[in-house]
Amino acid sequence: MTQARFITLEGGEGAGKSTQARRLAARLMERGHRVTLTREPGGAPGAEAIRDLLVSGDTGRWTPLAETLLHFAAREDHLSRTIRPALGRGEWVISDRFVDSTFAYQGAAQGSARDTIEVLGKMVIGGDMPELTLILDLPVDVGLARSHARGGEDRYERMGPAFHETLRQAFLAIAKAQPERCVTIDATADEDEVARQIWHSVTSRLPV
Ligand code: TMP
Repeated sequence: MTQARFITLEGGEGAGKSTQARRLAARLMERGHRVTLTREPGGAPGAEAIRDLLVSGDTGRWTPLAETLLHFAAREDHLSRTIRPALGRGEWVISDRFVDSTFAYQGAAQGSARDTIEVLGKMVIGGDMPELTLILDLPVDVGLARSHARGGEDRYERMGPAFHETLRQAFLAIAKAQPERCVTIDATADEDEVARQIWHSVTSRLPV
């Protein structure tokens, strides 16, 4: 059985995380690794049902604490039903978003207390933090234009430029504070170049 690995991709809207997560998973599978590609909020049936409550409806639908708790409820389901079983089978798990999104969106941008998120993180995640987090960074106007072009704006995409600028700064601050886990990737580059940067970060930090 190969060594289990847990990698997350994070960043604002329109950064290309989902495409890059798929490309990374494909490349690892070409190397013979077993990979579980998953996402948050979601990644398990119950967590996907909670996702629907979070990504649709009015922007002010939830209080910041209710929203934080919903994300952690989804995360608990995701960890229990998908992530931990895959790690237990010795697979690589690649998640499109994880707890750094809660610190950025619910903490920095929506005003949930950092202490609350930390306590919930200890309770729900425990020691199962990712060993590598790739933070895809790009200017807010570029990211929002990309996600508008994709169509079907979700609830978070409707939250306005100031909200998204706060997110960007929050992700950059997380990367700066936790360099042993996080790498910032310049997501303004074209898709192939971003994939190259990501592969370089993964292979220089983890044995593939
Ligand atoms: P996605 O657009 O990357 O699929 O994610 C759905 C939205 O959920 C995205 O706008 C960010 C948001 N989100 C949070 O607000 N907090 C979280 O903890 C997570 C995982 C996602």
